[in-house]
This record gives sequence, structure tokens and C-alpha cells, in this order.
Amino acid sequence: MIEIPQPPPPHPVAAPAHLNRTLVLVGLMGAGKTSVGKRLAALLGVPFTDSDAEIVAAAGMSIPEIFASLGEPAFRDGERRVIARLLSDSPRVLATGGGAFIEPRTRAEIRAQATSVWLRADLDLLWDRVRDRPGRPLLAAPDPRAVLADLDRRRSPVYAEADVVVDSRRGASHEAMAREIIAAVRAHDQAHPARPPTLEPEP
Ligand code: S3P
Repeated sequence: MIEIPQPPPPHPVAAPAHLNRTLVLVGLMGAGKTSVGKRLAALLGVPFTDSDAEIVAAAGMSIPEIFASLGEPAFRDGERRVIARLLSDSPRVLATGGGAFIEPRTRAEIRAQATSVWLRADLDLLWDRVRDRPGRPLLAAPDPRAVLADLDRRRSPVYAEADVVVDSRRGASHEAMAREIIAAVRAHDQAHPARPPTLEPEP
């Protein structure tokens, strides 16, 4: 009989956990919110949703098309409504577009209903990840690296308001990053005993 090598089983969470509140990943373009978020959701056994993909599906247009034909304020409004709807849904991992947490109303909704995680990355890492990927209208500029640097400088103090901060490291696997997020969320839960924990050990 021929032995067909089997892929390793998916890694379960170190100790099974129940997610009480949605985990919202925030941070700049290229931080890894979508790729790490998918892994995190798989580890926790909850759905994964990407707010950009939801907006695209709702609008029937790509993000560059929305920016070009409706403008950024319309995009932000749609983004806020999509995120509000998703926050009222069952607990999940929600990756948000880089500008979502910067909008005061969206940020207020996330703060009230979810646990937010800033996936922080340095500018060189962000730039290496986004430089050859079209589809981000804010970077369709003569000097996109300078735009990214400016967004990083202006947005970082706002991202820092997230409940949890985890550094995105060059070369770290999505799995490793997802596990670091789980550990950081647990630490946050322990430091804030007055609020029901985001992650509860399963009975
Ligand atoms: C944006 C980030 C993008 C997308 C849109 C605007 C931003 O999402 O929502 O192009 O304002 O930073 P990603 O962070 O997933 O690239």
C-alpha cells in the first residue's frame, strides 16, 4: 500500500477556550490582520470575517471603485455600518481595514462591544508587504511609502487605544502571531477582572 503523507492536524488552542466577545484586529495596511486573523479564528474555532470583503460584497464594487465613484467618506460610512452589523453578530475574529478604528464612531462601537487588538508593525515591514500589491487606493500616490509613513505617524496614537497590542514580527508565522494574540488577550482579561473575560476557559 502506498502511504500518502497526511498534513499535520490543525493545532488546537493550548487550552480550549470560549470566545465571549468579538476580537477586532486593527492596524495599518500590511500588518497581517487578514492572514493572522484567519489563523486566529481557526485556532479558536470561531468564524473569521474581513470588513473590507464585506463592504465589497455589499457594494458590488471593489474598494478602488468605491473610492473612485463614491469617495472616501461614503466608504467610511459603509465601513462603519458593516462593522456595527458584524459586532452584533456572534463572537468572531473580525479583521478591519486600516482606517476603520481611526473613525471615532466606529472606534466607539468597537470599544463598547468587542476586544480590540492592534497588530503593530514597523514601517519597513509594512512597506515590504504592501509595495507590490495594488488595490489600496490611499497608496495610489506618487510616493506611496511617504503616504504610508504619514498614516503610520498620524494613526499610531489612535491604534494605541486598542485593548491589546501585539507586535507583528518579520518572519513570524501566522500561527505564532495568532498564539501571541491569544496569550495577550488572556493577559488583558486577567488585568481587567471587572469586565467579563474575552476568552473563557471551557467548562
Ligand atoms: C485602508 C485600508 C484598507 C482598505 C482601504 C482603506 C486605510 O484595508 O480598507 O483601502 O484607510 O488604511 P487594509 O488595512 O486591509 O489594507
